[in-house]
Amino acid sequence: MKKPMIALFSIAAFSLSTSAMAEHPGKAFHDSANCMKCHTDKPYSPQKTPTYEKLVKAVSFCNDNLNTGMFEDEVEQLADYLNQAYYKHPKP
Ligand code: HEC
Repeated sequence: MKKPMIALFSIAAFSLSTSAMAEHPGKAFHDSANCMKCHTDKPYSPQKTPTYEKLVKAVSFCNDNLNTGMFEDEVEQLADYLNQAYYKHPKP
């Protein structure tokens, strides 16, 4: 009965360490604000939002609509996360 326990434990330890390594601070806001509730159907698109400034505006627009209560610097972090993950715009 010893082996399965060890296997389970190492899976848990592995997933913990990889997520801690790769995590952008804005991703936590993105996950907790439930953005993917809508944006799996309307994927983030660099064509629709062609500059970093517009990206920040779009994020605060959705943030205001959702009433998440995020602060301005948190919106910035979220926009920076989306930029790294999807948009890849040069930052001003
Ligand atoms: C209730 C549904 C809904 C939720 C939840 C939502 N959005 Fe949106 N979002 C929209 C709609 C509608 C638009 C405008 C139409 C479009 O451009 O697809 C939009 C547009 C955007 C855009 C610009 C469009 C693009 O593709 O570049 C960004 C960026 C964005 N939202 C980010 C977010 C973030 C970040 C969150 C979480 C804080 C969020 N949205 C949550 C509905 C939603």
